[in-house]
Order: sequence, then C-alpha cells, then structure tokens
Amino acid sequence: MIFKWKERFETGIEEIDKQHKRLFEIGTQIYNLASKDDGTDHYDAIVGLIHELKDYTVYHFRYEEEQLEKANYSDIEAHKMEHQRFIDKLNETEAEDIDVNQKQVLMDMIEFIINWVSGHIVGTDFKYRELLMETLK
Ligand SMILES: [Fe+2]
Ligand SMILES: [Fe+2]
Repeated sequence: MIFKWKERFETGIEEIDKQHKRLFEIGTQIYNLASKDDGTDHYDAIVGLIHELKDYTVYHFRYEEEQLEKANYSDIEAHKMEHQRFIDKLNETEAEDIDVNQKQVLMDMIEFIINWVSGHIVGTDFKYRELLMETLK
C-alpha cells in the first residue's frame, strides 16, 4: 500500500486531522479495489468510492473554509482558490468515464489525488495551524 498516513501530515487540530485521514482512507480503498486481481469487475464499487471521495473533499474544504472565516484568516482567498482548483480537477474526471479495466489510468488518478492532498496539507493547510489551534481551543 503506497498511501500511508504519516505523522508529518498531522496539523495537531483534531477535527482537521480526522478529516484528512478519512480522505486518505477513501483513496486507499479505491486503490486497493482497483489493484485487486480476482477476476471480478469492481466497477460499481469503484465508481461509488470515487463519488464518496468527491463528496467528502467538498465537505472537508467547506469545513476548513468555515473555520478560517471564523478565525479571520488573512490568506483565505488564496486557500479557497487552491481548493476550488482541486475540485475542478476532480470534476474533470467523471467517475462514469473511468474505464476500470484500464487499471493504470485509475491508479494514476488516485495517486495524483493523494499526492495533491498530502502536498496541500503540508504546503497550504499547515499555514493556518497556529491560528486555528488558538481559535479552536
Ligand atoms: Fe485540508
Ligand atoms: Fe485546505
């Protein structure tokens, strides 16, 4: 399994970490299902999980943005834009269009998603750490 949650992804903000871990979990589930070689077609389950991943991403971004608004985070617009760009990217990949028989395409997509999420966590989410730790106390 290549998507391992790492301690270095932790912001120290409990609810945010919980949500980030959940994103990783869904990614891992998709990856594992896609790499299964048991001769059965897991198409429906995979499409379902991709929808779940999209929904959860939207939920998480919304939650984060709400907290940042409450805390009067100065860099909120740039942060929101980064979220939006990722949502656009996810929407480009319509689950129904994914040919699960082309495992490599699916794996590449999941790898991109998880890499993006971890990059965003350490690169962008970490910037609000101190502020939210103070305000969510
Ligand atoms: Fe986040
Ligand atoms: Fe974020």
